This record gives sequence, structure tokens and C-alpha cells, in this order.
Amino acid sequence: MIVGVVKETRAGERRVALVPDAVKQLAGDSLEILVEADAGAAAGFPDSYYSEVGATIAADAAVLHERSTVILRVQSPADGEVEALRRGQFLIGLLEPLDRPQLARQLADRGVTAFAMELMPRITRAQSMDALSSQSTIAGYRAVLLAATYLPKIFPMLVTAAGTLSPAKVLVIGAGVAGLQAIGTARRLGAVVEAYDTRPAVKEQVESLGARFVELDLDTGDAEDAGGYARAQSEDFYRQQREQLGQRVARSDVVITTALVPGQTAPRLIEAAAVEAMRPGSVVVDLAAAKGGNCAVTEADRIVNHGGVSVLGHTNLAAEIPAHASQMYAKNLVTFLKHLLEEGELQLDLEDEITKGALLTHEGAIANDAVRARAEG
Ligand code: NAI
Repeated sequence: MIVGVVKETRAGERRVALVPDAVKQLAGDSLEILVEADAGAAAGFPDSYYSEVGATIAADAAVLHERSTVILRVQSPADGEVEALRRGQFLIGLLEPLDRPQLARQLADRGVTAFAMELMPRITRAQSMDALSSQSTIAGYRAVLLAATYLPKIFPMLVTAAGTLSPAKVLVIGAGVAGLQAIGTARRLGAVVEAYDTRPAVKEQVESLGARFVELDLDTGDAEDAGGYARAQSEDFYRQQREQLGQRVARSDVVITTALVPGQTAPRLIEAAAVEAMRPGSVVVDLAAAKGGNCAVTEADRIVNHGGVSVLGHTNLAAEIPAHASQMYAKNLVTFLKHLLEEGELQLDLEDEITKGALLTHEGAIANDAVRARAEG
């Protein structure tokens, strides 16, 4: 069986689905690994690294798609790329199931069996296959480094002969995987950090990282669903949250927002007026920019200067640390592939929670109920 690794085509995407070490890990499973020329170059893995571990280099995307049984990608294929896929092929990647339900429709129509890594159940057994977590970890770290670069101050407190510098004040809104990593990174750089999340269970995790949990006067009794994700709240709830967070935003040097509700546009948590109340030079990094942003001023993939405050709307921060982001993503894919493999072939046990959970399309149909409902709606 041939497993193919594409060269990503999305603008700014520097990650690759398999790093050379991951190719080595698959070697024992009697698989042939085909890597499109230059697929790993932008992540720091030239073709020679892949050849050295036994992979074959495919001259271009056409050869890769022609020969591969399983195609591994980071980003979902662009509309034009779907046509390169054929009946019976397998596709595994971050396929944006809820945001691009029509892609699922196209894949189903072409008879492709596709797995969307975003649909991986968030259960203990699947932790090493959880690409949302691995990529959010990198994004949370990168968000802090970006903020530190834009802020005209340093993060740690310094007592020097030239005077005392007070530590940067960082507020993290949304303390899931990315938010917790941002808290840890900002603390390691010496900032004073506070954080808020609607899920009360997060308080202990925030405090264990040395940050203060912000208590707001809001009823968060139903904030968490059975899967551990946030539930959407009413517009009235968000209005109160914006009001109560406003003063803290104004007092912060850096605000990092990561608040998301699966399958929905990001909740609006910071008004333009709150940004205007921040000191000039302050920084907002809006990790929810791809989903419309938590901050009213955010523009996707742009750095907005709003009254002297930098508002960063990067939508693909993981791609900015491509070597480690790819290493983690490749580990997620290898673990998942090994889960699906039996004696060198893909065997789909559709009773298995992990296989069934991640399955997007199979035998000409959209396998996931929520995605199918969106594709039909
Ligand atoms: P996410 O990316 O969907 O959301 C980020 C954060 O925003 C979440 O913590 C959410 O509670 C928060 N949020 C939503 N609305 C908000 C609001 N109005 N104000 C403030 N915060 C708001 O979530 P992520 O980071 O992907 O993971 C969320 C949770 O999923 C984890 O904390 C954990 O409980 C669970 N999880 C479980 C795993 C496992 O067991 N294998 C692995 C990873 C996550």
C-alpha cells in the first residue's frame, strides 16, 4: 500500500503531514511512502531527508495522486485539487468538516473515504491522535511570542541600575488547549497573567500554571457540554461578559483571545471601545480570527493598528513554527494510521469509536451526521 504526502498548496502553509522521523515509524508496517517533491522544504525537511529514511520522491502532485492509496495532508484540498482524487482512495487531513461541508459532499460524490482529524473524539485513548490539541499547543505558544515582539515593553520585571521595569500584564480569554499554553509561555517569560474561561472546570488548571483566574458575575452553570467543549451562550450573556471584561482588557498590556464554540462563529468578547481604552502600544492577539474573531477590531490575516493598539488576526499560527507543528501533526497521523492498519492494509472497523468518530465520507456518503446536516442545509 502506498501512502502519499502532498506538498501543501494553501498560501502561508509551511507544515507537512509527515516528517522524516514519522516515515521511519511507518516503515515497519510494510507501507511504501511517497513524498511530493519539496513537501517538507518549508518546514526544514528537504527531499534528501525523506529519501534517507526510505521514502520515494514523487515529481509532482499528479504523480502522487496517481500512485497513492492513502493521501495525507495538513490542509483540506482546494476545490481544484479534489478532482485529483478518485474512487477508493483514502484521504486524511484537517478537512474543515463543519466549515466546508460542501467539500465533504464532493469527496463523497467522488467515492473517497476521508477522515477529518478535527472529528477525532476527545477521549483519553485518542489523545495521541488529537491534531486540534497538538496544533493549538503550538499556536498558543506562538501567540505569546508574537505579542512579546510587538509590545514596546519587555515581559519580565527587571530591577537594574537604570531603574525598575514592571512586568507585562497579560490577559488570556479562553483557557482551552491554546489558552493554557499561552498562559504557561507568558509566565515563563515573566509576565503577570490572568485568565478567564466560561467553563468553571478550567480555574484549577489556570491557577496551577501560576496565573490568576478572573471571576466574573455570570451564570456559567451550563457552560460545558458532555464532550468538554464550551456551549454557546445567549447574546445577553456575551454583552454582560464584554462589560465585565472591559476594564481588565483596558488595564492589560497584552490580551490573547482563544474563545471558541465548536461549529459556530467566535463569540464577540471585546468591543472596539475596550481596545480604545488600552494604552497605546498594547497588543491584542486574536486566535479566533479564522472564525470571525473575539475582538470587534480583528481582521483575519492582518495586523490592525487601532488607536496605537496592535490587533493581530493571524489565522494559522501553527504554520509559523512548521518543524515542531509538523512533528506533532505527523505523530497524530502515524498513530491514527497504525490504529487503522491491519497487516499492512487499512481495515475500517466502523464500530470503533475512533475510526467512526473521525470518518467524514465513506462509500459515497457523508458519514458524519452534523456535517451531512450542514451539507444538506
Ligand atoms: P476550543 O478551541 O473549542 O475553545 C477554546 C476555549 O474557549 C475553551 O476552553 C472554551 O471553554 C473557551 N470559551 C468559549 N466561549 C468562551 C467565552 N465566552 N469566554 C471565555 N472562554 C470561552 O477548545 P479546545 O482548546 O480545543 O478544548 C476545550 C476542551 O476540550 C479542553 O479544555 C478539554 O476539556 C477538552 N479536551 C479534551 C481532550 C481529551 O480528553 N483528549 C483533548 C483536548 C481537549
